[in-house]
Amino acid sequence: MSDSRPEWAPASINLDQPSSARVWDYFLGGSHNFEVDRRVAEQAISFKPDMPDLARQVRMFLQGAVRTAAAAGIDQYLDIGAGVPTMGPVHETARETVPGARVVYVDHDPVAVAHGRALLAADPDAAFIQADARSPRAILDHPEVRALIDFDRPVAVLLCSLLHFVSDADDPAALVATLRDAVAPGSFLVIQHASHDGQAGEIIEMLQMWNTKSPEPMYWRTREEIENLFAGFTILEPGVVQVQQWRPDPEESRRTDLDHVRYASYAAVGTKPAAG
Ligand SMILES: C[S@@+](CC[C@H](N)C(=O)[O-])C[C@H]1O[C@@H](n2cnc3c(N)ncnc32)[C@H](O)[C@@H]1O
Repeated sequence: MSDSRPEWAPASINLDQPSSARVWDYFLGGSHNFEVDRRVAEQAISFKPDMPDLARQVRMFLQGAVRTAAAAGIDQYLDIGAGVPTMGPVHETARETVPGARVVYVDHDPVAVAHGRALLAADPDAAFIQADARSPRAILDHPEVRALIDFDRPVAVLLCSLLHFVSDADDPAALVATLRDAVAPGSFLVIQHASHDGQAGEIIEMLQMWNTKSPEPMYWRTREEIENLFAGFTILEPGVVQVQQWRPDPEESRRTDLDHVRYASYAAVGTKPAAG
């Protein structure tokens, strides 16, 4: 039986199908999810009990990467596959260092978009647009993106927990290349991507479970394939590493001790060098 539709849920959504945005929201302790999402999330947790912790690690990586970009003076951010804004959204994190930083969030999920728009309604320097990451040109040309982001100046492009929803046929490398070619030297590229490297059988079963139930199948990739997504960027130290190992902040509860086999999820940050 499906949930009754809460006031904030757009009429277009199917309450009987899980969505990655709402399942992720559940892992992060948010409230923008439905019974179908919670059921699938709990099933995933039964395969991978630390899943909510991994989701938090991904958010902490994202925040650390945004702080790194902000420390380098980056004042514009394009967060694609942004999800339901929970746990330290990018505009708040960036503005700790760069007040007035401009942020455009992009997602194809109607709940993420509706919630994001409500949250940002009074913020002239941030927007949330509904678009498909597989059409990066449409995102780059979107009027709300053009209104807030000046592509002649460096921008941070955030693709966190997104590209594993893009199939080989939809060519994630070409998607990233389109974004790379559009941004100015000095721009940042931030990627976190799930991997099947060394994964135990039950984790592969979890992937299969998700892929049979969800309209958004996942495509896990090897570390090498993920590193190759940074073509044309210089990868910053410490390179392509397990997400919880990317510059852990001793002040935060980063779990550098997590079991790598169960946690194969890579993260890295690159910068676009000057031409020449
Ligand atoms: C696992 S969540 C990650 C959210 C956030 N980036 C984070 O790291 O916490 C993945 C998000 O990507 C979005 N997504 C998946 N495929 C997409 C696509 N083709 N276009 C736009 N958004 C997409 C989902 O709706 C979801 O909100």
